[in-house]
Amino acid sequence: MDIRVLKSTVKVLVEEGKGILAADESTPTIKRRFEIIGLESTPETNRIYRQLLFTTPGIEEFISGVIMFDETLRQKTDGGIPFPKLLSDRGIISGVKVDKGKVKIPNFPSEEITEGLDGLRERLLEYKAMGASFTKWRAVFLIGQKTPSAVCIESNADLMARFAVFSQEVDLVPIIEPEVLMEGTHDITKSEEVTYRVLKTIFKRLMDYKVIFEGMLLKPNWVHHGLDCKNKASNEKIAEATLKVMKEVVPSQVPGLVFLSGGDSPEESTIHINDMNRIDKVSWQISFSFGRALQQKVLQVWMGDPSRIKEAQKVFYKRARRNSLARTGQYKEEMEAENGE
Ligand code: 13P
Repeated sequence: MDIRVLKSTVKVLVEEGKGILAADESTPTIKRRFEIIGLESTPETNRIYRQLLFTTPGIEEFISGVIMFDETLRQKTDGGIPFPKLLSDRGIISGVKVDKGKVKIPNFPSEEITEGLDGLRERLLEYKAMGASFTKWRAVFLIGQKTPSAVCIESNADLMARFAVFSQEVDLVPIIEPEVLMEGTHDITKSEEVTYRVLKTIFKRLMDYKVIFEGMLLKPNWVHHGLDCKNKASNEKIAEATLKVMKEVVPSQVPGLVFLSGGDSPEESTIHINDMNRIDKVSWQISFSFGRALQQKVLQVWMGDPSRIKEAQKVFYKRARRNSLARTGQYKEEMEAENGE
C-alpha cells in the first residue's frame, strides 16, 4: 500500500469547487430509473445514457470523479474509447461500486446486509488495471420501531471495514456509504440519533481494522426527517443537525464528506451542501456524490430521444455547476428561476 497514492487520489476527488457524479446504478436500479421515462434498460441503452453524461461539454470544471457500475466500467464510447480513458483524458477519475448488493437478514424483517467480499481482492486488481482509482460500498439502514438493529449495524460495519482495507491494500480509495434511509415517519431527532449510532459503530470498526482515514472518504446521508413525517425540519435545521453529528463522530483526518442525495430534490440537495459550507469552518471538505440529484432532470429531458441529447447535457452542466457553487457556499436559490432548466 502506498499512502501517497491514496492521498493524491483523495485530494483530486475533493478539490474545491468539484464533486462526484454517482452513475453507478446497478442493473435493477437503472431499470427502475428508465421505467419512469418509458425506456427499456439494456446494456446498450445504459451505455448511450452514460455516454451522454460523460461527454457533456465542460463538466470537468465541476466533476472530479465518476462512480460506475461494473458494466459501465467495461463499456466504450461510440468511437471505441473506454469510458475510464474518456474520463481521464478530461481530468476526471474513475471509480467503481464494488459491493454486490443487499440481502435480507433472516429473523430481522426489513433489514439487509450488503454482500460482496467474496473474490473482492481479484476484482479490485482487475478494476485497477481497467483504470479505476477509487471504490464504493453502500449499506442501508431503515428507521423503524425496532430498526436498525445492533445486528444490522454491526455486521454491515464489519463488512464495510473489510472492504475498506482490501481497497487500500491496492491503493484504491474506498468510499464508505452508510445510508440511513429517508423512508419512514420519523422526525429529524430520530434521524440524528440513528445516524450518530451507525457512524459511531462504523468508525470504531474502521479503527479496529486500521483503515487509514487520510486515504478514504465518507459518503453519508444528511440528518433529515422521514419522507412521511408530519413535522418537517427546515433546511437550516437539517444542515445544523447534520454538521453536529458529523463533528461528533467523523475523525478530523478523514479528508472529505461526499454526501448522497437520498431522494431529496435536486434543488434541496444543492441547498444542503451550500448551507453546510456556509455555517462553519470544519476540518473536512463538504462535497457531493449525487446520483439522483444530478441526474433526475437529465433523464426527464432526454427521455431516450437522440435528438434531445444536447438539451439534456445542458441540464446536466447547469446542475453540476450549481452544486459546484454550493461547495463554496455561493449557490443562490434564485439561480433556478433565472436560468431555468
Ligand atoms: P443518490 O444521490 O441518488 O442517493 O445516489 C447516491 C448513490 O451513490 C446511491 O448508491
